Amino acid sequence: MIEISNLQKSFKGTPVLQGVNLTITDSERIVIIGGSGCGKSVLLRHIAGLLMPDAGSLKIDGEDITRLSERQLNPIRGKIGVLFQGAALFDSLDVFNNVAFGLIEQRVLPMTEIRKRVAEILDVVGMTGQETKKPSELSGGMRKRVGLARAVVGRPRIMLYDEPTTGLDPQIADSINRLILKMSRTYSVTSIVVTHDMVSAYKVGERIAMLHRGKILVTGTPDEIQKCKEPIVQHFIRGISEEKDADERRSIGELAGTPHP
Ligand SMILES: Nc1ncnc2c1ncn2[C@@H]1O[C@H](COP(=O)(O)OP(=O)(O)O)[C@@H](O)[C@H]1O
Ligand SMILES: [Mg+2]
Repeated sequence: MIEISNLQKSFKGTPVLQGVNLTITDSERIVIIGGSGCGKSVLLRHIAGLLMPDAGSLKIDGEDITRLSERQLNPIRGKIGVLFQGAALFDSLDVFNNVAFGLIEQRVLPMTEIRKRVAEILDVVGMTGQETKKPSELSGGMRKRVGLARAVVGRPRIMLYDEPTTGLDPQIADSINRLILKMSRTYSVTSIVVTHDMVSAYKVGERIAMLHRGKILVTGTPDEIQKCKEPIVQHFIRGISEEKDADERRSIGELAGTPHP
């Protein structure tokens, strides 16, 4: 359903994506992991149709979206819900209007239907009864739930989550992970989650792909990733920086003979 082939993107001559290949099937939950600054958000923005690559293709339902005009992209963007890192709510609008905003703007559904959909999605994210509250009256976790409700209320077929649990305390992070699973199961939505939080990756991912040096280094089930022999993957999932690991290996004599800088 989503086919990414040889996707390349540089910013001012600095390559970020250097030939990403990845196929994501319908209603799959895939987690993309990788170090800070490796291009995870950039990849997600390409899938959302917000960035255009320098080379390569990105097909959604067989259609290469990198060849579409802005106008042709609009209906494709409508199929995609996005929860960006630090996605801000409208401060002046209450919870109901924050969630309903996109639906009201589209002027497609009657208000009775919009109310029904908002009520339904607020129930799913556990925010029933909070409709008239302003974002300033909500906790960080609650704001995240409202952001999630807003992203899915248009019933997208693809949901993109950029670091959905980053900066949240473990309990709230876990509730967000459970919501991602619930969205996936309730609406059979294809879910692409970008994170460097391995707890979250194992919990929500049916498959994990690691982005490294502008390419997908490995993909596999959480179990396969944990057993993966590739040192770069092991370093990442065990939270060991390459530098620190080299020091550790040196200290246990594995790198004996390697001169200290
Ligand atoms: N719009 C942009 N203009 C220039 N450089 C960018 C832009 N977006 C991202 N980058 C650069 O691309 C690299 C990857 O960024 P990003 O995808 O945000 O990393 P992460 O994996 O942490 O999400 C970084 O070096 C970042 O500075
Ligand atoms: Mg990012």
